[in-house]
Amino acid sequence: MITPTPESLTALFRRTYGGAPAVIARAPGRVEFIGNHTDYNGGAVLGAAIDRYVWVAAAPLPGDGPDKPRPRSSAEQGNPAGRLRLFSANGPAVLELPSDPGTKITGSDSWANYPLGVWRSLQDFSLPRPAGFDLLVDSDLPAGAGLSSSAALELATALALLALAGKKDLPPDRLAALGRQAENKYVGVPCGILDQGTSAFGRAGHLVHIDCRGPVFSRVPFPTGAHLWIFNTREKHALIDGLYATRHQECLAAAQALGVALLTDLTPAQLPPLEKKLTPMLAKRAKHIIEEHARVHDTVEALRQGDLATVGRLLTASHRSSKHYFENSTPALDLLVDLLEKHPAVFGVRLTGGGFGGAVMALTRDNFTEKDAASIAQGYSAKHGRTPEMIHLQAADGAQLL
Ligand code: GLA
Repeated sequence: MITPTPESLTALFRRTYGGAPAVIARAPGRVEFIGNHTDYNGGAVLGAAIDRYVWVAAAPLPGDGPDKPRPRSSAEQGNPAGRLRLFSANGPAVLELPSDPGTKITGSDSWANYPLGVWRSLQDFSLPRPAGFDLLVDSDLPAGAGLSSSAALELATALALLALAGKKDLPPDRLAALGRQAENKYVGVPCGILDQGTSAFGRAGHLVHIDCRGPVFSRVPFPTGAHLWIFNTREKHALIDGLYATRHQECLAAAQALGVALLTDLTPAQLPPLEKKLTPMLAKRAKHIIEEHARVHDTVEALRQGDLATVGRLLTASHRSSKHYFENSTPALDLLVDLLEKHPAVFGVRLTGGGFGGAVMALTRDNFTEKDAASIAQGYSAKHGRTPEMIHLQAADGAQLL
């Protein structure tokens, strides 16, 4: 994927809309370091914003917004009715909407539900928004890999649209809440705060810790001598397809049967005597969430002590729990975990994000090289047929207006 720059965005914006953008914003993807499906269960999670981004360039429609209006291009004169125009660098054509469509867009333009959801959420949050806009999206963040391209698109859009309406900053907790609302209410995914919170609070060289009950955000230094690698199965995971929502409902049903508001109201020691209240399937879901929440705390502690061997064991234990108890892994993810786990330069490895496809994240030693990654990829394609995408990532700063 080609890394976008402000110059490349401006050039593409000019070609698309016939004028320069007024604002450019970008928001990072994230890895879920540990804390699988704990967020909407009131648990803790550790994430890292990564140096792969969704970029958004935008301009008010001529005559709109506080900025000096652009001259009307010939393309615009041919389309005087268009109020909201959206274009993805990966898409075939500009999507033109005379006004808020009110309902969800389906088919190949369905990505536009994210920016439109943000635009609607701005109003729900009583924040300023432009009456109309031209918007361009570009990215070097693989979509469908479990790296939160959706949240990055939401946050970059929010910053760009707010800036068009004259508001150049928003506290990161509000930004995260706004993005989450767009996804929950307008895209229809009942996600927690992990993705938007990490993309908003990211800082270079740090992990983002979220106590999702508050939510309360803090940062933990990324361990020295360790590296983040992503191995993307290239099997798309789509949270919209229902499996994510099913897991969410199962967790709520388990909590209700156990007589608690949220599963993380219980400690791992409290669960076994209560398990008989649950069906075998719900007992597995509860075990995963309650123990995973504890693993996040143990990971933070091990990171503070610089005990990377323990961090690694917790990461891999998290994967096994997702696989056996939460049942959101896949044979391709498990194969990558099995191959990476055996490598002497790997501390630990686990699926990252919602699951049901997507990518695994490995925490490696300094001496894990491109050559090591290539040999893992070879082992994977020998058994699985496909070549995984491999990315060596850095923990990066959060969403920002450029
Ligand atoms: C997706 C969701 C998050 C979180 C993870 C699983 O990324 O968007 O809110 O639930 O899955 O931990």
